Amino acid sequence: MIGSANGYRVSISGLGAHVPDRVLTNEELARMVDTSDEWIRTRTGIRERRIAGPEEALTDVSLPAARTALERAGISGSQLDFVIVATVTPDMTFPATAALLADALGASDAGAYDLSAGCTGFVYALAQAYGMLAGGLCRTVLVVGGDLLSRIIDWSDRSTCVVFGDGAGAVVLQRVDSGGFLGFELGADGAGGRDLCVPAGGSRLPVTPEVLAAGQQYLQMNGREVFKFATRVLVSSAEKLLEQCGMTVDDVDVYVPHQANVRIIDHAVEKLGIPRERVVVNVDRYGNTSSGSIPLALAEAVGEGRLTKGDIVLMTGMGAGLTWGSGLMEWTEEAA
Ligand SMILES: CC(C)(COP(=O)(O)OP(=O)(O)OC[C@H]1O[C@@H](n2cnc3c(N)ncnc32)[C@H](O)[C@@H]1OP(=O)(O)O)[C@@H](O)C(=O)NCCC(=O)NCCS
Repeated sequence: MIGSANGYRVSISGLGAHVPDRVLTNEELARMVDTSDEWIRTRTGIRERRIAGPEEALTDVSLPAARTALERAGISGSQLDFVIVATVTPDMTFPATAALLADALGASDAGAYDLSAGCTGFVYALAQAYGMLAGGLCRTVLVVGGDLLSRIIDWSDRSTCVVFGDGAGAVVLQRVDSGGFLGFELGADGAGGRDLCVPAGGSRLPVTPEVLAAGQQYLQMNGREVFKFATRVLVSSAEKLLEQCGMTVDDVDVYVPHQANVRIIDHAVEKLGIPRERVVVNVDRYGNTSSGSIPLALAEAVGEGRLTKGDIVLMTGMGAGLTWGSGLMEWTEEAA
């Protein structure tokens, strides 16, 4: 699916991010499984990641990010028309984490639902919120991207436990007079779904003692296949969207790729031909936070003063599904 902006113009009017306090370093992981700081750094670029405490659920980690986003937008929770939470690790299967979060924010009249598109979830959710705002259905939407992948990882599996971390980011989307979102490109390839999945816990394989004993409640990943997929779609999705919007990579001032692995980012940056100084990278400190990754990186870039009004910002995510998605926007004054 690909489309350029139509209808009301829409932009980010507030942005926030939050990560748990607990830092898990590569050295600590090397004491848990057969790995090393050197292997993790050279294969992924990750030095450390954050891990939620036992008492923290996704709502708890998302709430500070959402509150910051509302504050920066200068609105209260009661003004929200819709709350979308992109995640694969909701507090529980249902009710939706978005409904729990809306309640905690005092958004008593807001519609609320969770969106499952793996690490691409945040970009998918932006596109959905954009559509509702541009079409006039809503005036103010909160989009949260967040995951606590630490909860679904097998901590004895060295091929997965070294790459993921916990975190969340949130944006308020509202109408603007000019600038804002220019277009989206989204896609999915369910045939590759089994390369990154949690086999049990759904209607196909309910949790039983046998399933638990086999570890099928944990995230399973074919790292090499996902790597090939990721390097391919990061490039193709960005190229398609830029073309659709009548732009080239030369127009991109800030590139925010999904933070999965620094080698995947390096590959995309090289293929696309985007200068290094325009790329936002923080995977070294947070690992792959799934849906939290792009808003966390965006918030960091804003915090560092890397975004100014008129800048063209390209975001591309990819992940479980397998899914991919890009969003292109012209940064607005309100976006903070
Ligand atoms: C997971 C990933 C880092 C593994 O790196 P890789 O270079 O592909 O490594 P491979 O899977 O080919 O494994 C190479 C060797 O390292 C070993 N290995 C795997 N994990 C290891 C670890 N943490 N420490 C040490 N050795 C490890 C493997 O067992 C394998 O050993 P072998 O050659 O004796 O069989 C990489 O495939 C990757 O990043 N994939 C994409 C993952 C991703 O982004 N997922 C989320 C998408 S949203």
